[in-house]
Amino acid sequence: EDYIAEGLILANKQFLITAGPTYEPIDPVRFIGNHSSGRMGMEIAKEALSLGAKVHLVLGPSALDHQHTNLQITRVQTAQQMLQVCLDNFEHTDVTIATAAVSDYRPAEVASQKIKKKSDTLSLELVKNPDVLKTLGAQKSKQFLVGFALETENEAENALIKLNNKNLDFIVLNSMNNKGAGFQHETNKISILAADYKKEFELKSKADVAKDILAEIVERIT
Ligand code: CTP
Ligand code: CA
Repeated sequence: EDYIAEGLILANKQFLITAGPTYEPIDPVRFIGNHSSGRMGMEIAKEALSLGAKVHLVLGPSALDHQHTNLQITRVQTAQQMLQVCLDNFEHTDVTIATAAVSDYRPAEVASQKIKKKSDTLSLELVKNPDVLKTLGAQKSKQFLVGFALETENEAENALIKLNNKNLDFIVLNSMNNKGAGFQHETNKISILAADYKKEFELKSKADVAKDILAEIVERIT
């Protein structure tokens, strides 16, 4: 209660945040990945820390780093590794936020040696990766669960389907239909969608987007 007086309103809360891309190996020197930087997740982590929370950041391959007494970073490569770390920690977590750009598929087999250049075409068989967030949603009891959605069509409708399928408390829709928003940009334009309400926000920096998301979480859990 002293903590709350000091403004550290999340002092007794444990956060679990996924961030960054995943790298799915093809052979010893190649992988399937994406351009996610991990910045949105890191900004959310910093904002949660500033409100007094303890944060466990499960981070795919990313150049980002941050030091804080209340921050633990576990670095992973693949979706399967990300899922395992999340499952090991979900039970004692109060708030989970999935910002990671998880590869939806991975190579069915990982070649043990570097694949040599031979024929004019090459096909890779891919298999579906586990859905980290959906797996956690299915195990949810008292945990508060937040997901992200990036859509190019029927944005709100598709985001609401994800909210329901993954058993989320709210979903952050990253709007693509806006200059300067989305992947590899410094700014984002988001909406927060829950079962019975929707809030739209202006285009702003990722740090300010993180503040809006944390304010929404604080409103819902305290
Ligand atoms: N997510 C996850 N594990 C996956 C895929 C997605 O945890 N294997 C999480 C993301 O971190 C995000 C949310 O699920 O919080 C939505 O991700 P998105 O890629 O938009 O949705 P998908 O369910 O993968 O569906 P699709 O890509 O077909 O739109
Ligand atoms: Ca996806």
